[in-house]
Amino acid sequence: MAILKTAKMGHPILRATAEPVGPDEIPEPGFQQLLDDMVETLRDYDGAGLAAPQIHEGVQVVAIEVRHNRRYPEAPTIPLTILINPKVTPLTDEQVAGWEGCLSVPDLRGLVPRHRAVEVEALGRNGKPIRFCAEGFFATVVQHEVDHLHGILFPDRMDDLRTLAFISEWERFWRTPAPTPCS
Ligand code: NI
Repeated sequence: MAILKTAKMGHPILRATAEPVGPDEIPEPGFQQLLDDMVETLRDYDGAGLAAPQIHEGVQVVAIEVRHNRRYPEAPTIPLTILINPKVTPLTDEQVAGWEGCLSVPDLRGLVPRHRAVEVEALGRNGKPIRFCAEGFFATVVQHEVDHLHGILFPDRMDDLRTLAFISEWERFWRTPAPTPCS
């Protein structure tokens, strides 16, 4: 296992379209190692998700997981989800604006509109097809990560760049109070 170096905004790989993974490649040890390394990197950086171009690999793979996240303390838990060759279809025209950050756009947050619910089709790490619906924060993370496979970064999706903020200032002026936990 290895923690991989992340590409930062300005690196051309973040603006390239990632290649689909051939089904024959998925069981190969080198590819499975890449998946393990992506998960380790995601956890080490406290990300909610990581797309392969962010670790300088131009292939259509994303890893998503949220649990006790220091960068997103209010976020709901998302179990580890690996998506290979993902396709995202909006289930509603309704868009919800939420605050996003990105390991490739460090220290910044911005308000980004996303479809509230999406259908996701992909292959899992065992090569078997996966299909599910995601809503709310999970839907936002999926859309953010799949955008990375198409060379899109969250500032490209912002309606109003005036909400772009350094995290230090965002915490002072923009952060909403944590929701009261249900009991
Ligand atoms: Ni990102």
